[in-house]
Amino acid sequence: MVDLPTIAQEIGVCTRCPLHEGRHHAVPGEGPADARLMFVGEAPGRQEDATGRPFCGAAGKVFDDLLHEAGIARDRTFITSIVKCRPPHNRLPHQPEIATCVGAHLMRQITVIAPAVICLLGALATRSLLGATRLADVRGRFVRRDRLYFPTFHPAAAARNPAWRHTLAADLRTLFETLAGHPPVR
Ligand code: URA
Repeated sequence: MVDLPTIAQEIGVCTRCPLHEGRHHAVPGEGPADARLMFVGEAPGRQEDATGRPFCGAAGKVFDDLLHEAGIARDRTFITSIVKCRPPHNRLPHQPEIATCVGAHLMRQITVIAPAVICLLGALATRSLLGATRLADVRGRFVRRDRLYFPTFHPAAAARNPAWRHTLAADLRTLFETLAGHPPVR
């Protein structure tokens, strides 16, 4: 089977969609191949594009704090996004860009890692992997499809709204407790 470094290398030179035109660095994601927990965000921002590392900018700082509060070791999870190249002016990725990137890259990363749970950060990640699903209907719950998913808020949204930050912190705590041995429930 293909390995994560090979997928990352392919992402780094990918020209399948227009998002590659403006990138400085593609952001494949990072973490161990045997991670039991995978986080999927939306798209790289300015700082991620500059460094090639996921969640290293403003949203990443919030995310790091929340992971720490929940007791989740970031370096034992795999963190990536729906699309791997920064959209111009941080616009939302377009549907063909999402379909292309998910099909070419994210699905293969998921197959290699085979995580116990995929935590979907925000509405775009939730829609992109669960289809016509409103985040409000599934947030904070385990959703069994081809794999086990757990949708919650995006850290950038949590940074703007203290109530959402509180909810995201509680959701991450639920994830931590589940992965620490309690069986996931629907
Ligand atoms: N937002 C994301 O969804 N991913 C990143 O890597 C950074 C910000």
